[in-house]
Amino acid sequence: MERLAGKGIWVTGAAQGLGEVIARRAVAEGALVVVADVKEDAGRAVADDLGPAAVFIRLDITDDSSWAQAVPSVLGHLGQLDGIVNNAAILWMGSLESMSTADAERVMRVNLLGTFLGIRTAVAPLRAAGGGSIVNISSIDGLAGMNSVAMYSATKFAVRGLTKSAALELGRDGIRVNTVCPAMGNPEMSMPWFDQFDLDRYLARVQQPAILDDGIPRTVDADAVASMVLFLLSDESRTCSGGDYPVDAAWTAGKLCPGLPGF
Ligand SMILES: NC(=O)c1ccc[n+]([C@@H]2O[C@H](COP(=O)([O-])OP(=O)(O)OC[C@H]3O[C@@H](n4cnc5c(N)ncnc54)[C@H](O)[C@@H]3O)[C@@H](O)[C@H]2O)c1
Repeated sequence: MERLAGKGIWVTGAAQGLGEVIARRAVAEGALVVVADVKEDAGRAVADDLGPAAVFIRLDITDDSSWAQAVPSVLGHLGQLDGIVNNAAILWMGSLESMSTADAERVMRVNLLGTFLGIRTAVAPLRAAGGGSIVNISSIDGLAGMNSVAMYSATKFAVRGLTKSAALELGRDGIRVNTVCPAMGNPEMSMPWFDQFDLDRYLARVQQPAILDDGIPRTVDADAVASMVLFLLSDESRTCSGGDYPVDAAWTAGKLCPGLPGF
């Protein structure tokens, strides 16, 4: 049985990266999907490749009127909305002191305001469908801070707060709201910021050596993140709401101390 059979799912930032993988997996699980993005050519190519189950809609998640205009087209394709994945976001890396006010505002507008507008826009159609699932994509940077991503991290923490309040407000309408916190998934997003570092060296330093060497796989790929999103979109997660779901191979679980028993 397909896990999303008959469901209508709207994925933002689905022209590439994690959003594209989520859209592809959702179609494979029987959903009708809206691929939404500001990148028109790439988004349309993804939807075309997915066939009649998918359609592309141009959406700027920071723009109220863009959301309002999208709703009739979304419902026209899906029939009804059963789930939305607020996935689109932007990264900015550099020292806190070097970040301009304009860059800080841009990160807040896309990652935080955009997610808020996505939740707010989805409420009425989800309620009309008798309930559904909102999945907001945060990050491990929304669970713990990290140098070089202060404002990105702040917005990803805020997404978790939005999620919890929304879950409390919307539960009575049968609308579940959850956050997924991936450690990785799409190296393309951060590669432009890594000119001066070696990504493998960075990952080797920041992760727990025992986890790296044996056992849980070291890299979290987009497919692993999409599996969590699919679970939260499906009825399998019908009792899950207001939660944070890390997909991080225990990265944020705590400390592993050499020399102590259990190391
Ligand atoms: N890349 C990773 O390893 C990683 C790790 C943790 C969390 N995340 C989170 O996963 C999500 C997806 O990341 P990704 O790596 O696929 O990013 P990406 O940069 O590859 O893709 C993001 C997509 O969002 C779109 N987008 C940006 N601004 C938009 C706007 N205003 N309106 C509509 N669309 C817009 C972009 O055009 C792009 O297609 C993000 O929320 C990101 O913070 C990613």
